[in-house]
Amino acid sequence: MQDIATNRAPAAPVEVSPDNPCPFLRGLVANGYVGGHIVPLPELTDTIKRATGKTGLAALFAGAQIFGVAMIANGAPFRSLREGAILDQLRNGPLDKHGAGSRILDQHAVVHEDEIARLATFGSDYSNPDGGTERGLNAAEIKTFMRANFQRAKDDHPWYWGILHGYYRIMMLGEWPVLLDILGKGDGKDRYLSVAEVKTLFVERSFPARIVALLDRK
Ligand code: HEM
Repeated sequence: MQDIATNRAPAAPVEVSPDNPCPFLRGLVANGYVGGHIVPLPELTDTIKRATGKTGLAALFAGAQIFGVAMIANGAPFRSLREGAILDQLRNGPLDKHGAGSRILDQHAVVHEDEIARLATFGSDYSNPDGGTERGLNAAEIKTFMRANFQRAKDDHPWYWGILHGYYRIMMLGEWPVLLDILGKGDGKDRYLSVAEVKTLFVERSFPARIVALLDRK
């Protein structure tokens, strides 16, 4: 979905399937950085790698991880290798934690703002490198948040979640901590994920200008 004349993503967001539950991929599809259906793994990996801003060995490492996740996401790794990841068929796939996540997006991809408000309660106020202070979550607060999400799901269905415990815990490490890695502001233990930027990503499916600048780099 690129504008051929300018080679840039179109201004108007593209519709995104409710069966794409990943806020990050929804942002990429909505802004035309990748298509919404079958996306070849090298194209998907390269696009996400650009957004990380990483270079050299770190970029290689990040790329390998993203490729691995995208390869298993539809439950048919060999088909994904041949054709690509099917971004509008991710729901109920191996990465779908069925409510053990933040629950910000429901099964119909409707955003629940009360869950964003809940996310904010796990955070603190950080000094924003762009000026002022804002609410955000650092790595430790994200860990507590994920643990609480998991516990909530387990309380709802103790037997079921008991079995899936280890698997879901590992899956979660590839989501919020990676989002912190990419979108985070500030350094060290004060590097934080801005709640306002999380909200914009989930609700408007758009990225902050600094990430758009990275994505637009060719
Ligand atoms: C590095 C880039 C990525 C980031 C930063 C990212 C981030 C996230 C975040 C924050 C969530 C939300 C979890 C929650 O609501 O608790 C999520 C969910 C999800 N992501 Fe991603 N993701 C990335 C790449 C991918 C890729 C490459 C795939 C597969 C092709 C994928 C598939 C999914 C799926 C299926 C879910 C839903 C999990 C659930 O609801 O249980 N993500 N992701």
